Amino acid sequence: METQENKVIFSAIQPTGTFTLGNYIGAVRNWVNIQDEYRCIYAIADLHAITVKQEPAKLRQHTLEAFALLMACGIDPEKSVMFIQSHNKCHAEMNWILSCSAQFGELSRMTQFKAKSEKHPDDINAGLFTYPVLMAGDILLYQADLVPIGDDQKQHLELARNIAQRFNQKYGELFKIPDPYIPKVGARIKSLQDPTKKMSKSDENPNSCILILDDKDTVIRKFKRAVTDSDTVVRYAEGKDGINNLMSIYSAVTGKGYDEIEREFEGKGYGDFKLAVGEAVADSLEPVRTKFAELMNDKAYLKEVYTNGVQAAERISRKTMTKAYRKVGFVDCP
Ligand code: TRP
Repeated sequence: METQENKVIFSAIQPTGTFTLGNYIGAVRNWVNIQDEYRCIYAIADLHAITVKQEPAKLRQHTLEAFALLMACGIDPEKSVMFIQSHNKCHAEMNWILSCSAQFGELSRMTQFKAKSEKHPDDINAGLFTYPVLMAGDILLYQADLVPIGDDQKQHLELARNIAQRFNQKYGELFKIPDPYIPKVGARIKSLQDPTKKMSKSDENPNSCILILDDKDTVIRKFKRAVTDSDTVVRYAEGKDGINNLMSIYSAVTGKGYDEIEREFEGKGYGDFKLAVGEAVADSLEPVRTKFAELMNDKAYLKEVYTNGVQAAERISRKTMTKAYRKVGFVDCP
């Protein structure tokens, strides 16, 4: 039996500017929590980012920021391997090998491809189409056991499993088949303006979304404006999407259960509750903002961390890459 410590976790996040509170509570905070339990490998997926239009200077900036943000949130380069995807050439190489095992039909069925094609009808590039193959390579290169992902990536992980199985059947066992990692505690954070939708930084209404670098006043102001309902009691119930969302946020940052929160705000109004949520969130983000500013002021240190990171990533993934080349029948690279 394998112990958990030997289990490999791989995940990646795209460098699309600052993260939202949703990314933080729903994903990154969880990545931080599992660092002691597993062998974690985390990447900034800049190769993925160029499947949609990017301004080069901004992409570079956002990639560095995303890397610093992961560290500011608590990803510890002493515990986890963290790197920038494009630095490790294995990802682009594996993408090609796996694209010869991925089928046109299955890629055509990816709902994210269909959605993004509709959103960018003037740039339905081949990279957008094969994006899930690149993602499969990310995971399979490290022989990951588990992949923490949101609902929007489930179909891609399923595809990665299918591609891995198909390759293994064609050429003999190579890839470990990864499973989704379902966190013990995980909250899906919704928009503050329309709590039936996911919190998203691409929302036109900036009040719908908390960015993890928002300052205290901004955080509190956005929570004050959060949409609730015509009831007045703070309790978790069906039909109270706004309050439910605020309760799950408050619970995620304070660790308090719903019963406890209901008792805390008994006899108080929504105004008091919103203010408390805003303050709790702002307080929990404060150290992240401070650490982030420190890191962005020390580019030499950041560079040292991502240099060491890619060396570690390369050591692991090059082994799989070399095996894959042998399996498909390439002559050993001189
Ligand atoms: N596609 C993922 C997203 O947009 C990011 C990603 C890239 C990823 N490679 C991955 C996630 C590998 C998990 C595993 O959110």
